[in-house]
Amino acid sequence: MIARSSVVLFALAALALSQADNTSLTFDQIPISKDLHYVPCFQNFTCARMEVPLDYKDPKVGNTHVALLKWPAPKQPALGDLIFNPGGPGYSAVDELLGLTGPLSRLLGERYNIVALEPRGIQYSGPSVHCFGESDELGLTYLTSRGPAGWTDHPQRAKTFETTGAFGSWCSNVLSETANYVNTPAVAADMLHYSELLAKSQGKPCNDTKVNLYGNSYGTTLGMTFAQLYPDRVGHFILDAVVDIEDHYFGNWSQNLLQGDEAVNDLFTSCAAAGPRCALYQNGSTAESIKKRVDDLLLRLVDAPISATNPKEVLLPITVDDKPLRSAMRNAVYNPSAYFAPLAQQIAELERGNASSFGTPINIGEGGDSESSFATDIYGGIFTRCLDNQKRFPGTLEAMEDLFVYNKQLSTYFGESWANENLLECRNIRFTPPVSQRIDKISKVKTNTPILFTDNTIDGLSSSYHKMSPLFEGSVVMLQKANGHGLLVARSNCTETNLQQYLETGKLPPHNTICDTDYQPFPEV
Ligand SMILES: *[C@@H]1O[C@H](CO)[C@@H](O)[C@H](O)[C@H]1NC(C)=O
Ligand SMILES: *[C@@H]1O[C@H](CO)[C@@H](O)[C@H](O)[C@H]1NC(C)=O
Ligand SMILES: *[C@@H]1O[C@H](CO)[C@@H](O)[C@H](O)[C@H]1NC(C)=O
Ligand SMILES: *[C@@H]1O[C@H](CO)[C@@H](O)[C@H](O)[C@H]1NC(C)=O
Ligand SMILES: *[C@@H]1O[C@H](CO)[C@@H](O)[C@H](O)[C@H]1NC(C)=O
Ligand SMILES: *[C@@H]1O[C@H](CO)[C@@H](O)[C@H](O)[C@H]1NC(C)=O
Ligand SMILES: *[C@@H]1O[C@H](CO)[C@@H](O)[C@H](O)[C@H]1NC(C)=O
Repeated sequence: MIARSSVVLFALAALALSQADNTSLTFDQIPISKDLHYVPCFQNFTCARMEVPLDYKDPKVGNTHVALLKWPAPKQPALGDLIFNPGGPGYSAVDELLGLTGPLSRLLGERYNIVALEPRGIQYSGPSVHCFGESDELGLTYLTSRGPAGWTDHPQRAKTFETTGAFGSWCSNVLSETANYVNTPAVAADMLHYSELLAKSQGKPCNDTKVNLYGNSYGTTLGMTFAQLYPDRVGHFILDAVVDIEDHYFGNWSQNLLQGDEAVNDLFTSCAAAGPRCALYQNGSTAESIKKRVDDLLLRLVDAPISATNPKEVLLPITVDDKPLRSAMRNAVYNPSAYFAPLAQQIAELERGNASSFGTPINIGEGGDSESSFATDIYGGIFTRCLDNQKRFPGTLEAMEDLFVYNKQLSTYFGESWANENLLECRNIRFTPPVSQRIDKISKVKTNTPILFTDNTIDGLSSSYHKMSPLFEGSVVMLQKANGHGLLVARSNCTETNLQQYLETGKLPPHNTICDTDYQPFPEV
């Protein structure tokens, strides 16, 4: 899910997209309507496009449209609509929901219709911020020609700095003022608007409707933004894999990796516990001895990279230093149940001097996924982040170099691969949100229904629930014993029961509940 260019999208990575990739959506054919007008689509779903004002406070600037995909609750009559956001920013809620109805209904139950509300600027919703046109071809050519961002020495950083500035300047020349309205507060307003149109379509009063949300990762930023702006309109909110909203709006996106090393250390611990089921395990291995071998390997790769040249194993000759391995670690901690076993295999082979697995399409490290990641909306993602942050990050080379050092200290394994060009990409973007779509401070608020914050006991990519919960009166934190970016990485009857009870009755589990799970990254076959 992560591009070679290190565009970091943090989300339910890799869980669903591959299943949805082959569905060629033709949202163009869905009528755009001021009212909510759902039509059947994709076998079991209904689709709509709602017309929304670019700025609810200034109708004269015009309209855009928001794509909606609804999966009707298996148990009707439904208790309501639950909006789903899978993260990013940049992930398409629509594409993700197409592939995730099974896991989501196991987690959230079958009483709510699940609605993917496509965020502005992303995939099927307007306004488009595709700086290289609607076909991906030119954009891909651009990304390939500009190459991966370099950070190792000052000349490389200087080039990255200039290149990212050029990106912003180009987009600023190409796009129209509608790009101002691609931001998170605008999506929150669209969610509210949706709930009002829904009530209206059901003949209910619409000025006091509540919104329900399951948001993962960046979806928690969206949820908290909504709760800041419309606390009395918060219905049932499950915010899973919790991002630091202050870091998003006012900081430098540096608070994600607080548990980055813990997440990788879990590879060593669980590998030692799994024994021979883990490819890295050797007779008598302990977590410490495995860690030492991997640490030594990372150091060795810097001075002595390994190439792979067997045409039966790689498409092209490749040379692997420590960076692809660090990226593979970063990608694996999204979902260790799925990725730790293949990662251990990759590392074991690398230890034996075999780097081939980094050059094949199946690799989970750097490279293989760059194109599919591009297909998810990196432009919508960049604009959302940049407009939300409003250049509060200074965007100088010096600030970026500081941040690079900071990230490396925070997460010794993959902080370096997280510190990336994202923040610099904002530097020359001339667009800014209208006053009605700015978050200028985060306050303590009391929501109509208390929020349920959730995560795994280890989440190497965002774990700010204890900092966020006190901002939302009455909210509670519930964790489950697993490693990964969001609850879907493991199954737990306790988690499912608590979430479904909250959705159905509003009853929250006790604060700091910790649920057991089936988490087992090296399962017995
Ligand atoms: C994608 O869809 C096409 C047309 O429906 C089908 O022929 C093809 O097998 C599908 N590919 C995958 C990988 O599912
Ligand atoms: C639609 O539902 C049917 C029956 O439950 C199922 O077999 C099929 O896979 C579903 N299709 C999609 C696209 O989810
Ligand atoms: C909603 O609208 C009704 C009728 O227009 C009005 O009486 C009521 O005060 C409104 N409620 C809110 C919360 O604005
Ligand atoms: C593992 O080490 C022990 C003690 O050194 C030895 O008895 C055993 O045969 C070894 N097992 C394997 C599979 O090498
Ligand atoms: C090297 O790794 C590749 C990819 O995992 C594997 O297919 C191949 O068999 C390995 N080669 C050797 C000589 O072990
Ligand atoms: C980035 O964030 C870190 C942690 O909040 C802070 O220590 C640092 O001063 C920030 N740097 C810049 C340039 O904003
Ligand atoms: C949890 O387990 C209990 C007992 O086996 C079962 O009755 C219940 O339906 C399960 N809950 C969920 C949400 O699966």
